[in-house]
Amino acid sequence: MFFQGKLIVTSHSSPSSSSSRPFHYPQPGRGLYCGKVSLDGLARRFGTPLYVYSGDQIAERLSLFQRAFEGREHLVCYAVKANSALAILKLLADRGAGFDIVSGGELERVLAVAPEAAGRVVFSGAGKTAAEIDLALNANIIEFNVESEVELALLAARARKLKRKARFALRVNPDVFADTHPYISTGLREHKFGIDIRKALGIYKGAGGNRWLEAHGVSVHIGSQIRSAQPFGAAVKRVEKLVGQLKREGIELKSVDAGGGLGIDYHSGAFDAAAKVAEYAAAIEKSLAGFEGRLLIEPGRFLVAQAGALVAKVLAVKRNGKKTFVITDAAMNDLIRPALYQAHHDIEPVKPRPGKARVVDVVGPICESGDFFAHDRAMKPLEPGDLVAILDAGAYGMAQSSNYNTRLRPAEVLVEGGKARLIRRRETMADLLAPEITLP
Ligand code: LLP
Repeated sequence: MFFQGKLIVTSHSSPSSSSSRPFHYPQPGRGLYCGKVSLDGLARRFGTPLYVYSGDQIAERLSLFQRAFEGREHLVCYAVKANSALAILKLLADRGAGFDIVSGGELERVLAVAPEAAGRVVFSGAGKTAAEIDLALNANIIEFNVESEVELALLAARARKLKRKARFALRVNPDVFADTHPYISTGLREHKFGIDIRKALGIYKGAGGNRWLEAHGVSVHIGSQIRSAQPFGAAVKRVEKLVGQLKREGIELKSVDAGGGLGIDYHSGAFDAAAKVAEYAAAIEKSLAGFEGRLLIEPGRFLVAQAGALVAKVLAVKRNGKKTFVITDAAMNDLIRPALYQAHHDIEPVKPRPGKARVVDVVGPICESGDFFAHDRAMKPLEPGDLVAILDAGAYGMAQSSNYNTRLRPAEVLVEGGKARLIRRRETMADLLAPEITLP
């Protein structure tokens, strides 16, 4: 919509019961709920800013992928980086998920809540240390997604040292364009990720002579928040061709890892998640028809983004010149996506007030102009003390939070079956200062 000659981005649809979000207004006047739980009640109980997640939706999203690929041997390896809360990892592990990790720390998290899932882990990442490799070799993970020849040499050396054969997959760069934000696009030759697919054959062959390495699979990841299924199909097609070439050379791979990256609709709660997953699965299936091994996929955002909201309290509403600013107690340190990627998040008042929508900027209190959640957004009237829910914040929200401005990171609550439970208490100043050393 246009307002005073400017393009105004508004929420196209309010959360409703047909929404792909768990956040909805059950009845006029009762405010915003997560499933059966009132956000107003949660804010009173746990304070703000507060991350609230629907465990029910996360479980449902996992099962969408599991059902879409049930015709073939597969494993959904949740990308831990999207939201690494232990309670969420446990919920997913209990439902059969595997995990895609990118650090020793993420592996430690998985081992802490679901040691039995160690055999369902893949290790991605463009730079792994010897200590991280050792941890993963000892945990006997499925495979290492190797991104360079140097890394493969290090993996072989560590495997030899620990006397544990290392299963590896080369992460190939398929040179496929995915239409997404440049910071989260990874599948072009000029990106730092993966190994040029044209060089992969030679590297697999070279590794054949090393008794500590097992060529186990091949992996690809072309980027994140990709809305169309087409580039996934194109990337996997190139991978399938490589699998065929390798087979002819006598190297039979057991797995193809198609990566993560399936995007959500940040502008609408009305988007059809089941249809999206079906379309994605169809594109991959079509490209991988000739492969009989195990398919691995690494979704992160799609499982957790829409399940989460960041609930914040309005501290002040002020006018500066022509602009109205709504200042909240949440800030860019709690959710950095708008500042970092100009990302859009729908924002809803927890208890909408009657009256006409006004165009405002929703911002945090940090002294940086990048500290914003929305620019020029039409919002129902807001007053100090009101609560707002910043939606679709379950992925890369808390996971990318920081203590900038010596701000304590939010508490986190998981809602399952009508019950809300604290899964991370709010940080305290003691937590924050603990690692520091004052000098005499
Ligand atoms: N696998 C690998 C190797 C990855 O690098 C990523 C994400 C994923 C899987 C999961 O991708 P997803 O399904 O979540 O799109 N902080 C950014 C997103 C960074 C994504 C990095 N890699 C954001 O807030 O949009």
